[in-house]
This record gives sequence, C-alpha cells and structure tokens, in this order.
Amino acid sequence: MCGIVGYVGHRDCADVLLDSLSKLEYRGYDSAGIAVFENDKIITEKTKGALKNLKDKLGDGHKPKGVCGIGHTRWATHGEPSDTNSHPHGSAKVSIVHNGIIENYIDIKNFLIDKGYEFASETDTETVAKLLDYYYDGNPVETIKRVLSEVKGAYGLGIIFADFKDTIYAVRKDSPLIVGVGKEENFIASDVPAIITYTRDYYLIESDEIVTLTKDNIEICDIHGKQLVKELQHADWDIEAAEKGGFEHFMLKEIHEQPTAFRTTIKPRIMDGMPFIEECGITREMLAGYHKIFIVACGTAMHAGLVGKYIIEKLARVEVTVDIASEFRYRNPVITKEDLVILISQSGETADTKAVLTMAKELGAATLSVVNVKGSSIARESDFVLYTHAGPEISVASTKAYMVQLSVMYLLAFELAYARGVISEDECRKYTSVLEEMPEKINEVLKLKDRCQFIASRLVNSQSLLYIGRGLDYALSMEGSLKLKEISYIHSEAYASGELKHGTISLVTEEMPVIAVATQSDLLEKTISNVKEVKARGGKVSMICSEKVDVDKEIANHLIKLPDVEDLFMPILAIVPLQFIAYYTSVLKGCDVDKPRNLAKSVTVE
Ligand code: M6R
Repeated sequence: MCGIVGYVGHRDCADVLLDSLSKLEYRGYDSAGIAVFENDKIITEKTKGALKNLKDKLGDGHKPKGVCGIGHTRWATHGEPSDTNSHPHGSAKVSIVHNGIIENYIDIKNFLIDKGYEFASETDTETVAKLLDYYYDGNPVETIKRVLSEVKGAYGLGIIFADFKDTIYAVRKDSPLIVGVGKEENFIASDVPAIITYTRDYYLIESDEIVTLTKDNIEICDIHGKQLVKELQHADWDIEAAEKGGFEHFMLKEIHEQPTAFRTTIKPRIMDGMPFIEECGITREMLAGYHKIFIVACGTAMHAGLVGKYIIEKLARVEVTVDIASEFRYRNPVITKEDLVILISQSGETADTKAVLTMAKELGAATLSVVNVKGSSIARESDFVLYTHAGPEISVASTKAYMVQLSVMYLLAFELAYARGVISEDECRKYTSVLEEMPEKINEVLKLKDRCQFIASRLVNSQSLLYIGRGLDYALSMEGSLKLKEISYIHSEAYASGELKHGTISLVTEEMPVIAVATQSDLLEKTISNVKEVKARGGKVSMICSEKVDVDKEIANHLIKLPDVEDLFMPILAIVPLQFIAYYTSVLKGCDVDKPRNLAKSVTVE
C-alpha cells in the first residue's frame, strides 16, 4: 500500500526522494513526506494529499539540503489523511517511514504512555518510532532488533538515527523492500520503479533482514546479526517503461502496450508450436495428475481467473473453482495434497492472496503463482511461478496485467488439456498458433478507441450501469464493470444475462444504460433475447460482439464489432473496448484516471 524510499549518496537527497516517490505514488497518495539530514539535523517536511502538494510546499525554498534521507507516500490505514498522520514519524533521535500495519500498536502505545511518551498522530507507525526512541542505546542495529522483538504485524521500514547522519537502516516483514545499488550512492524502496532512474541493480530483502546503508557500503544481516551475502538482481526494463511516453495517462499507455506485453509473455512459453511451461518446474505428468484446481486472487486478477476457469474446464475437463482470496482464506476450503492452487497477482504482494498461498502450502497442495513483479513475495514463496511480462503497471486500474494473466491462462489450459489427453497434439498446436496471432488482433481492436470514446460520452452522466453477458462474456462483464466503477465512480453491476429476469431487470429504465457483451456464438441468440427484453423496457444498449455476426441494427443503440476469432479467444479482444469505455468515461468526468480515490495499486493489508 504505502511506498517507502531512502537515499544516501552525492545528489540532492530531497530531489531524489521526491522523484522516487513520484514513481511509487501508485502505492498510495493520501499524503507524502520526507526527512533529510541537513547540517547534522533531521529536517522533516510532510503534507496531506498527493505528492504534488509536498512538491509545491517545498518548491518555495523549503527543500531540506542534504545527501541522506527517507521518504513516504501514504495509503491511510490508521488515522485519516492529514498533515499530522503523514510519515515520516519520529523524535529528536530517530525518524521512520513505514509500509504495513503494526497489529499490537495499542499495547505499545499504552506501554510508552506509561513511560511518559506523548503521541501527535493516530498512526500505528508513530508507536514504532517512539519505541525505537525508547530503546535507543547508541547502537542502531541492536535497537532495531530489540524493537522488532516486540512488534507484531507487517512492515517495510526505512529508519534514520540523528547520531548517524550518513546512514539509512531498513528492515521488512511481509511488506516488500529492495535495496538499490548505485555508484557512490545507494537506495531503499518498496519497489523497483522508485530506483530505476538511478540504477537497475538491486537486492531483494527478505523478512527479518536488517539493512545498513551508506553511500559506499551495504550491509545486510539476519535478525541474529549474521552477515548475509545476497544475489544481485537486475531489472530488465528501463525508465521509459515507468513513464507516460507521450500518453495522457498511464492507463492509456498500458492499454496500448497490451499487444507487446501479450507477445512477450507467451513467446518464451511456446516451443516448436507447442505450449511449454515446464521452465517453471511443473511437468506434464504433474498437470495430468492434479485432482482439482483452485484459482484464487483478488479484483481484476480474480476476473482473469474466471476466464481461466471457463477455458480450462472446456478444454481440459478438470474441475476448477475460482475464489476471491479474502473469502477463500476464511471458509475452510477442502484442499488436498492432490490439488493445485493457482494464485494470480500482478504485484505478488496482495495480502489476502499471499495468505491463501500460505494456507495451501500448509495443506500440502501444489502452488503455482502467476505474477508480474519479479521477486515479489508470492512469486518467491510458491512452488512454481509463471511470470507475466507486462513490465511495470503504474495505473491503479489494471489493464495490461489482466491481459497477460489471460495469456497465461490460455497456455495453461492448452497444456493441461494436452497433458490429460483431452486434446490431440494437432489440436494443441492449432490453439497455440491462434494464441500467437492474438497480439495482431489486439492491435486491430485498439483502433476502435474513438468508437469507445463516443459510447463513453453517452454514459458519462449516468448514475448507474449494467454489464451483462453469458459464460465467458459474463466474466468479461465483471471486469468491465469493475474498471468503470474504479476510475469513473459511476456505480455499475455485472449480471449474468440469464439472471436479469430474476430480479435485476426491475432496475432497467431509460436512465440505466446497459453494456451487453455477446461474443459467444452458441449463446448469442439467448443474449440477444435478453438485450431485447432490456430494450423493451427503455434501456439503452451498447453491444460488443464479433464482426461475423449479423446483428439487426434495431437490437442495440451502439455496436462495437470485434475482429473475427474463434469464440474461445474472444475475451482477449472484448476486454479492450471495455477498458477504453471505462478510461474515456473517467476522462470525460474529469477524474484522476491513474490514481482513483481511496485506492492503492498494491493491497498489502487485509
Ligand atoms: O496485485 P494484484 O493483482 O494481486 O492486485 C489485485 C487487485 O487489487 C487488483 O487487480 C485491483 O482489483 C485492480 N486495481 C483493478 O483494476
């Protein structure tokens, strides 16, 4: 959720921190702050609202001058977004930035109040800062160890001590943390985009490892003080990937990156015309043997899982259940050692998805994660990982990550179906070659953006919308609806078309636009009947279907026709107009497309 950064080196620290924070704003934007050593003193500047507010505040001569400091961009958990609740928090001795949640902060706070401490903020973080102050004995690492032995919860912490003006300390537990390695400069950050302007080399920090960072030296030790030697990681993308590159918003850029992201993700997994996913360690023999498949994820990633369920069940004839991670983890699911649990996550850090991974492992099931962020917790902790190669996704609304998650679902479905002997090698090759053609088809669909913009102009003043579809189109409707509400704040609901008559159709009036997704030919007639029922009640219908179907002009008010591909592959195309419709509606409403209110990109708390 929150983003933390730290810099020690030779540059203007405040400039580096502000720049790095701007790359992490997708993690939270309720407030921002920095603490920098200036002439041996820690100077803290922080303010409520987006990073821009802090930049404006510091612009008129208030930027602390120094070469070592820490910074934070916040997604509020404890205490409303306010100047006082903004990070960094601290005392005369110490200053900290924190990403995560301290579960026992009330106990710590009461303990410290008894010792005479006063608290300015409502945050859990301030209790850690004050506990560091309380135990500080001149030895930062020993003090950190002592504090960590009393703190329960999740944290990525960046810490500076007033007595050590050239040094940053950092530690994590269940919240991400990396150390960027530069020349005469080093960094800490929650995520790689924060450092990529300065270096592509970094270390992944594990839970309970303590980092001591100066401009020329990096020491990493475990909680018992043992020095660790870590493998240097190298980010294989550059700064352009994390910038808007001429597009008005990251979301628009990321929608346009989908053909490339799709190609890059599937290419290494196709060999001699056949799917090849053994690189992750999962063999055909294993795939043939799993009893049941569970797909568990949150939000958009869960919607990708729904498409996965349809295509895996259709092709491989194995039972697949799809669940929301926050529900699944508490419903005591029947998982056995014979089952495969697939976790889908762009960030690889989503708290609920991670909890399901832990649970599945405890129950002895095999775990396979489909993750975009290299080295993230879910990727590291699962038995097998299939990385998607979307590059950094900055916009909070997920688009290209969903697209590449779909691409992996298809490969997995082909591989499972072939491994289980349900489809022949020829059939498997045929499906795989269609998949390889999809980036070109997505490119064609991108040309429909003006049409989508027009449809958005018809929706922008609505209070509420319905998305309807059957089968795969229902799964798509759910994602289209989520995208719209997430970034345009217009309420919408996705409904299985066949369910309308069981209650929801009473909502349909002239004021309630309906988006019908109707790409599946075997269900087309049925969906068209449902659309007619909606129209008969005054509903204004925009319909997304294949160019091969001859839909009577009277049936829908607006039509979007997609290039002709086999029905099974239609989700890969149909999602694009749904993304565009949400995007342009948000733009027309004047919303902050990339940073919708109340949200953060990476949900690392429950
Ligand atoms: O990082 P993850 O894929 O695990 O995130 C899951 C959801 O939080 C995420 O997909 C969310 O629903 C998106 N912001 C929707 O656009």
